[in-house]
Amino acid sequence: MNKQDLLTAVRLGPYTLPNRVVMAPMTRSRAYNRDRAPTELHAEYYAQRASAGLIITEGSQISPQAVGYVYTPGIHTQAQIRGWEKVTAAVHAREGRIFLQLWHVGYVSHPDFHDAQLPVAPSAINPNTQSFTLQGLKDTVTARALETSEVRSIVQDYVQAAINAMLAGFDGVEIHGANGYLIEQFLRDGSNRRTDAYGGAIPNRARFLFEIVEAVSEAVGSERVGVRLSPANTWNVPADTDTRSLYDFVIGELSGYQLAYLHLREAQGDLSGIPNMVTDVSAHYRRVYHGTLITNTGYDRQKGDQAVANGQADLVAFGVPFISNPDLVERFRLHAPLAQADQATFYQGGAKGYVDYPVYQAAAA
Ligand SMILES: Cc1cc2nc3c(=O)[nH]c(=O)nc-3n(C[C@H](O)[C@H](O)[C@H](O)COP(=O)(O)O)c2cc1C
Repeated sequence: MNKQDLLTAVRLGPYTLPNRVVMAPMTRSRAYNRDRAPTELHAEYYAQRASAGLIITEGSQISPQAVGYVYTPGIHTQAQIRGWEKVTAAVHAREGRIFLQLWHVGYVSHPDFHDAQLPVAPSAINPNTQSFTLQGLKDTVTARALETSEVRSIVQDYVQAAINAMLAGFDGVEIHGANGYLIEQFLRDGSNRRTDAYGGAIPNRARFLFEIVEAVSEAVGSERVGVRLSPANTWNVPADTDTRSLYDFVIGELSGYQLAYLHLREAQGDLSGIPNMVTDVSAHYRRVYHGTLITNTGYDRQKGDQAVANGQADLVAFGVPFISNPDLVERFRLHAPLAQADQATFYQGGAKGYVDYPVYQAAAA
C-alpha cells in the first residue's frame, strides 16, 4: 500500500523537499517602483511561506516586451536581480527552496507598457480582454505578429532571464506555458495562424516551447527547470480544435527531457461543450509523463493527500490557500482550520492582505 501523503518528503531535481506542498505562482502586483524590482516586502512575504516544500514565485517578465500588468516584477535588469537576491536569501535563511516563474504575456498587454507600440503575439489577433495598466483596466488591441527572427530572440530572452534567476540565487526556474500567455498562444491553433516553422502542425506550434526548454536547460541544467501547462485552459486563448492531441504530443515529448518537474493545472468550470479536451488532467497525463508531476487547482488537504497517495501526482500546488495561510504546511500537520483570503487585496494593496495574515497560533491567541 502506498503510504505517501502531502507531508512526506520527495526528491525534485537535485533537491530533497521536506513535504509535497508547493506554493503556486501568484502575481500580487506589489513591485511599486520604476525598476519593477522586488523589495523587502516581497522578501518578507516569501520568507513567511518558506515551510512550503517548494515556492514558485509570481510570474516575472523576461524582458520589457514581456510586460502586461502594472507593478509586476521582472528578471531582466540588475536592479531586479538585486531585488530578487533579497527574496532568495530570506527564503534560504529559513531553509526553503524557491523557483522563479519566467513569464511573457504576449498579446495580454497594452501599448501603454510599450511606448505606444503594439504588444506582440504569434499572430495579429486581439484577445478581446482587458489589461491592468497604470490608469486602470483598458481594452486590449490587435497584437503585432512576431517576425521569425524575433521568435528566436525571445528564446534568448528566456535563456538570459534564467541565467539572471540563477545569479539572483534561485534554486531553479519554471517556464510559464499556461494560462493563455505567449507560449500557450503559440501552442493553440486559434491564436497561432503562422505559416513559418512556428505555425501549422502540432510539432511546429510546439517548437517555440521546446526551443525554450532546450536552451534554458542547456543554460542552467534541466534538473533546475520546471514547465507549467494548462491543457484544459480557455482563459486568454481559445481551445484548440484538438486540444487533446496537442497536449498528448507536448507532454509525451516533455517526458524525455529530465526536467525538475511538469506542473499541470486541472480543469476549471464547465468544459463539457468543448470537443477533444482532456478534463481529468493529471489523471490522464500521469500515464503520459514519467517524471515528477505537480498538480494544481482547487485542491484541499484531503484531495491533495488522495492525489499523492494514489500516485496521480507527486506534489500538489496550492494558490489561494497560501495567500491567507503563510503556515499552510503547519496547519495541514495540525489539521487546523484555514483562514479565508481577501480577494480585494490579491493584486496591489501594499502590506495589507500580503504580509499581515497571521500564523495559526497567533490567530488562536
Ligand atoms: C492572485 C492570483 C495570481 C495568480 N498569478 C499567477 C501567475 O503569476 N502565474 C501562474 O502561472 N498562475 C497564477 N495564478 C494561478 C495560480 O497559480 C493557481 O493555478 C490558481 O490559484 C489555482 O490554484 P488554487 O485553487 O490552489 O488557488 C494566480 C492565481 C491567483 C489567485
